[in-house]
Amino acid sequence: MRIAVLGTGYLGATHAACLAELGHEVLGVDIAAEKIARLSSGEVPFYEPGLERVLKRNLAAGTLRFTADHREAAEFARAHFLTVGTPQRKGDFAADLTFVDNAVDMLAPHLSAPTVIFGKSTVPVGTAARLGARARRLAPAADEVEVAWNPEFLREGYAVRDTVHPDRIVIGVDRDRPGRAEQVAREIYAEALDQEDVPFLVTDLATAELVKSAANAFLATKISFINSMAEVCEVAGADVTVLADAIGCDPRIGRLFLNAGLGFGGGCLPKDIRAFMARAGELGANEALTFLREVDNINMRRRTRMVELAREACGSFLGSRVAVLGAAFKPDSDDVRDSPALNVAGQIQLQGAAVNVYDPKAMDNSHALFPTLNYAASTLEACEGADVVLVLTEWQEFRHLEPTALDDVVRERQIIDGRNCLDPDQWRKSGWSYRGLGRP
Ligand code: UDX
Repeated sequence: MRIAVLGTGYLGATHAACLAELGHEVLGVDIAAEKIARLSSGEVPFYEPGLERVLKRNLAAGTLRFTADHREAAEFARAHFLTVGTPQRKGDFAADLTFVDNAVDMLAPHLSAPTVIFGKSTVPVGTAARLGARARRLAPAADEVEVAWNPEFLREGYAVRDTVHPDRIVIGVDRDRPGRAEQVAREIYAEALDQEDVPFLVTDLATAELVKSAANAFLATKISFINSMAEVCEVAGADVTVLADAIGCDPRIGRLFLNAGLGFGGGCLPKDIRAFMARAGELGANEALTFLREVDNINMRRRTRMVELAREACGSFLGSRVAVLGAAFKPDSDDVRDSPALNVAGQIQLQGAAVNVYDPKAMDNSHALFPTLNYAASTLEACEGADVVLVLTEWQEFRHLEPTALDDVVRERQIIDGRNCLDPDQWRKSGWSYRGLGRP
């Protein structure tokens, strides 16, 4: 099928390349000429394992192209995907819908044939219905334009796999205007549906929008739950990692997403739970999601706790050197949006310590966001003369660190494991003081 993907950021670039991989002819559309140029030359503007290969292969095969021209997209495609960003509004919890509104405003005036627009961005419930009316008002094809919702659940670092082999496909259709959206979606995802028996759930628009918000709210809650247990473990002298293993054996609870540590960050979970709270309030369900405020608070407290532990280790931050290993919000990513690691590094530096940051992939993005931190070219360089080493993102490279490699590099043999990813015995036996979040 000929498909256009509007917005070529993380989600859109991945979705466009993967749709081409699934056998479609795809046109990626963006207003940023620089992104179009980079993607057209086979360069992925962010770090995502496996994506460059898929992008290059489909560019070479002619099944994937990029353009800034919305008219071209409208004439080319039978189905469109909206994959633009919905960031948090400045000074507010709610989502900023400028980009989704603009994408529809730029595309719809060129739609003169029957078309389905699938929204993929995470949006406040009610947005799909509003965008449908907006598109029909602007499009020459008027009532022949359908807006459906197809939420995206991909995880950074696994984006290609999650897109080509999704664990479920949810399609929200406008029940008041029965159309072709379900049929078109079945054609688009035919390969996954035929070969992998992937659950295909057809719902109304509001439910599809809510599925995504609910999934992210649940994941955030699971992480904050275990981090609240970590707080209790810290005062009770218990070990949250063993506690997580033990409760995780119960299949009703499950061990996945139960790693206590510095908590969640990134471009999705923090802003999505806030937008979800804001929207529930607007709709009159004010009390339904107040627990998410606590989920958010628990999460942010972990960052403060890490700063406190680092201060305890240094005695005073003034005149101290702190090594920060990890800047990305999670491993296998160069994304530093709302990164707990960078947030902690920034707080410590503001309080007077010299902070040296190293991350295997996120150096450029970190530098752009926090230009005043010191950046090192390697783990060893970051740890030079350090009074304490903080492991804040669990990259493989840090998990496999040997204490002996740092013995003669640091000033004090102190390590704080913000992701509970190191072996405490190994470090203690080597003469280091080891602390983990939520561990004795
Ligand atoms: C998330 C959702 O998983 C995905 O389904 C949704 O589409 C977008 O948001 P992503 O932002 O890529 O994906 O990151 P994810 O792997 O979910 O991790 C989010 C954060 O939680 C990271 O900062 C990670 O370090 C943290 N985390 C995760 C924990 O602190 N503990 C865990 O056990 C798991």
